[in-house]
Amino acid sequence: MRRLELQSVNMHFGPLHVTRDVTFSVDSGERVALIGPNGAGKTTLVNIMAGSLRHSTGQMLYEGRDVAALSTPQRARLGLVRTFQISRLFMGLTVEENVRVAALHRHQGRKAARDVIDAEVHAGLAKLKVAHLAGKVVDSLSLGERRLVELSLALTMEPRLLLLDEPAAGIPHGESRHVLQAVNDLPSDLAVMLIEHDMDLVFSWARRIIVLSGGAVIKDGSPETIAQDEHVQRIYFGRGDT
Ligand SMILES: Nc1ncnc2c1ncn2[C@@H]1O[C@H](COP(=O)(O)OP(=O)(O)OP(=O)(O)O)[C@@H](O)[C@H]1O
Ligand SMILES: [Mg+2]
Repeated sequence: MRRLELQSVNMHFGPLHVTRDVTFSVDSGERVALIGPNGAGKTTLVNIMAGSLRHSTGQMLYEGRDVAALSTPQRARLGLVRTFQISRLFMGLTVEENVRVAALHRHQGRKAARDVIDAEVHAGLAKLKVAHLAGKVVDSLSLGERRLVELSLALTMEPRLLLLDEPAAGIPHGESRHVLQAVNDLPSDLAVMLIEHDMDLVFSWARRIIVLSGGAVIKDGSPETIAQDEHVQRIYFGRGDT
């Protein structure tokens, strides 16, 4: 099933043309990496897909429905969920309370019994193996633990398409392994789009890679195709003849 479809999406910030005619689609269960140099427009694209930014022109369909007018929370409730390059947890609250916020958010507008919410919170904590941190205030966690809690929050939203913007960024290597392992272990029916600069990880994890450069998609294909593409090597890896 087609989860998301972007048709000629453009984004202008004043005179800056940051997203250029971006067209692609993501199907259920796909593992897609979105790569490109710093400033290529990856985060901007995630912002557009998740609803933090409204694109200037073009069309965006989520499960066949035009979601351009929907807010980020509305999209999240439909299963289009993102995490941030920079941590966005509620400081001062415990891990369990943070996950509870996500569970309550998902039920907003409907009445959910307390034990239903409790079950979802515990499932969310268990999925990312962070149940032992439940009572800790998030401020006291390591960066890697915070990331796992953020993923736990995201999964509590019951996503069908999860957008991960550099989940291992800024995390010490020893801990980033756990985060990347968690990304590897995400349910197989969940479509995931991952932004990541570590090419070893990208090429081992992704089944498909979309390369952005200067705001435009310059290549979209299997890791094998991408690795061999001269244009990609020149623009992204800084290699090649010109
Ligand atoms: N709100 C904004 N106003 C003006 N320009 C912006 C805005 N947000 C992003 N840009 C510009 O858009 C371009 C793309 O930025 P973006 O953050 O999407 O890149 P990125 O691919 O995520 O980079 P990185 O790998 O460093 O995270 C950059 O030139 C950036 O300066
Ligand atoms: Mg970015």
